[in-house]
This record gives sequence, structure tokens and C-alpha cells, in this order.
Amino acid sequence: MRFFIKQPETEDEFSHYYHFRWKQLRAPWNQPEGSEADEIEDQCFHLMAVDDSDIVIAVARLQYNSDSEAQIRYMAVAKKFERQGLGRKLIEAMQRQAKNSSHKIIVLDAREPAVGFYQKLGYKVVEKSYLLFDEIQHYKMEKEIS
Ligand SMILES: CC(C)(COP(=O)(O)OP(=O)(O)OC[C@H]1O[C@@H](n2cnc3c(N)ncnc32)[C@H](O)[C@@H]1OP(=O)(O)O)[C@@H](O)C(=O)NCCC(=O)NCCS
Repeated sequence: MRFFIKQPETEDEFSHYYHFRWKQLRAPWNQPEGSEADEIEDQCFHLMAVDDSDIVIAVARLQYNSDSEAQIRYMAVAKKFERQGLGRKLIEAMQRQAKNSSHKIIVLDAREPAVGFYQKLGYKVVEKSYLLFDEIQHYKMEKEIS
């Protein structure tokens, strides 16, 4: 499978990026379109993977919590492209970005089924965190990148 990782740049690319995020991470829980974005999007680093036809097949976002701490959020890979190394590629790109901007640690809140994925990439569980939509248990995880 061929895919390309890039930063969304145009209005059109951002619209496909957010739509994919909503479809994967919000629509299955009946959340309205718009609920997939927050108020700090313009301060974040965004990546998406597209296929040969330029269709979005994965997304992820890096936000900066402080000079030393960055946070990965809104990570999703389309079901039919799972387990083909796409998630790993996106996380590695996020880590490079965090390192280049002198951040020392990456934190994230993993959905319970994704904890094993992040563990594979070297993240450690810190504690049980919040319950999203009354059903998706999250776990705070972290990894030092310096
Ligand atoms: C979790 C998710 C991002 C993983 O992406 P992916 O592209 O399938 O992962 P990769 O193929 O890059 O996997 C990297 C490694 O983690 C392993 N892995 C992937 N998903 C896993 C899981 N759910 N549990 C345990 N290990 C997993 C892979 O087997 C692979 O191991 P290997 O390198 O030894 O072969 C993807 O399944 C997804 O989007 N899930 C639904 C939304 C979600 O949960 N997002 C995360 C919100 S915090």
C-alpha cells in the first residue's frame, strides 16, 4: 500500500482532515460535526496520511503544553488501513517534530484499545484518566524523547 504523509495546508485539505477526524473519532458516538476540533487548532502541528488518490486515511495532531511537554491528540487510522505501519509512521513524525522544537516529553491520553499500540512505540502508562462519552476509558501515557 502506498501512502504519503503531509501537513494539511489549503482550506480544502484542512476540511478533509477535520472531516476524517470527525468520522473516525466523533461520529460513531453521535457527536455533531464541529465537535472534532477545539480552540487551539491554529497553534498545533497537524499531519495526515493520504492514499494514491489523495484521500485522507489517517490523521494526528501535536500540541504544545509547555516548553518541555508536547501532547499527541486526535490520532486515527482508517479501519481498512490499520496494522500496516501507518500509525507508527505518524507517531514517529510527531516525535521528530516535538524533538525539533526542543520538547523533552510527549504525553497523551490513549483510548483503552490503543494502549498496546502506544506501548509498542515506547509509551508508558502513567495512570487511568478520563471516560469519554461515558464509555471510552482513557489512560494517560508518556514518553521521554530527549
Ligand atoms: C490505534 C491506531 C492509531 C493504530 O494505528 P495502526 O496504523 O493500526 O498501527 P501500526 O500498524 O503502525 O502498528 C504499530 C505497532 O503497534 C501494534 N498495534 C497496532 N494497534 C495495536 C493495538 N490496538 N493493540 C496492540 N498493538 C497494536 C502493531 O501490531 C505494530 O506492532 P509491530 O511493529 O510489532 O508490528 C489505529 O488502530 C486507530 O486509529 N484506532 C482507532 C482510533 C483510536 O483508537 N485512536 C487512538 C486514540 S488515542
